[in-house]
Amino acid sequence: MNTETNTVTVNTNHTVTVGTQQFYDDVIAGLTTMPKRLDSKYFYDAIGDVLFQGIMNSPEYYLTNCELEIFSNQVDVITRLILADNDEGFDLIELGAGDATKSTYLLGYLMKQDVDFTYLPIDISANVIRLLDNELSKKLPGLKFEGLNGDYFDMLTKAATLSDKRKVVLFMGSNIGNMPVDKAEQFCKELRRHLSPGDIVIIGFDLKKNPQTILDAYNDKAGVTKQFNLNLLTRINRELNADFMVDQFEHYPTYDPETGSCKSFLISCCEQKVHFRSSGKTIHFHKDEYIHMEISQKFTLQQIKDMAVNTGFSPIKYLFDDKEWFTDAVWVAK
Ligand code: TRP
Repeated sequence: MNTETNTVTVNTNHTVTVGTQQFYDDVIAGLTTMPKRLDSKYFYDAIGDVLFQGIMNSPEYYLTNCELEIFSNQVDVITRLILADNDEGFDLIELGAGDATKSTYLLGYLMKQDVDFTYLPIDISANVIRLLDNELSKKLPGLKFEGLNGDYFDMLTKAATLSDKRKVVLFMGSNIGNMPVDKAEQFCKELRRHLSPGDIVIIGFDLKKNPQTILDAYNDKAGVTKQFNLNLLTRINRELNADFMVDQFEHYPTYDPETGSCKSFLISCCEQKVHFRSSGKTIHFHKDEYIHMEISQKFTLQQIKDMAVNTGFSPIKYLFDDKEWFTDAVWVAK
């Protein structure tokens, strides 16, 4: 987020930066709807990025290991599917790249095979893109790299203007699950609109499994997921000059095996008024009132197959880890 440029007026004699204005508008919009919610894209400030890495490394969080297993053991299969008898160069775009641990296997393998491609990671966090640029230039010297900081579709449009090469899009880590199912389907349709026939997407979906295993993954014993959620309130306090009593919120994760929805809430332990001092806005919380923070949807394979058909893709392959807890779907744009 851009926090250091031009200022705009929020209220008669108070100013905030342009990036902050968008953050403020989104936060207020979320906290004035019923039930209250916060947009999870704001989790990822510098501290949020570190906490998020902590979640990924926690013993309960199985998703990363499953997908890492798929990418490390089946990188040759993935490469064959991506190349698809096509020896022209391509753009390998990654949506929400994070630290790219998993995709690094693929990048390294493609480079070893002398495949001609450019890696374009897209992330909402400028910090993530900077770190990636740094890390990958050390780990994979010679990698053609073009980091794009911003919203996925804005940056996909930009990627299309940068080159007219065939696109291969990675959307891993069950990030697709961080949208309700109808939004995920809209997202795939929108993704398809940004692609051309023959382009390939590889999407990581977390599968339904023992409900306790899933709930534990979003409720790690060390409490990193809790801190990650609370950090957004701390960020709002700091950047938007607000006064959430952060220690008066509890983290409440849920998983519903019927719908496959795993959700995170923050519950206010007491009645409280949150003041946004720059604008004079006040948000009221009842005792036990919740803020919806995040959804992590779990899927059946049939749901995933239906989603491909409904959104303009043909499945080419589903790759699984040994436990079959997770799948990377390889689809081609029709
Ligand atoms: N997309 C991953 C998941 O749904 C990672 C993730 C996104 C996550 N937001 C999160 C994990 C919040 C824990 C809490 O699991």
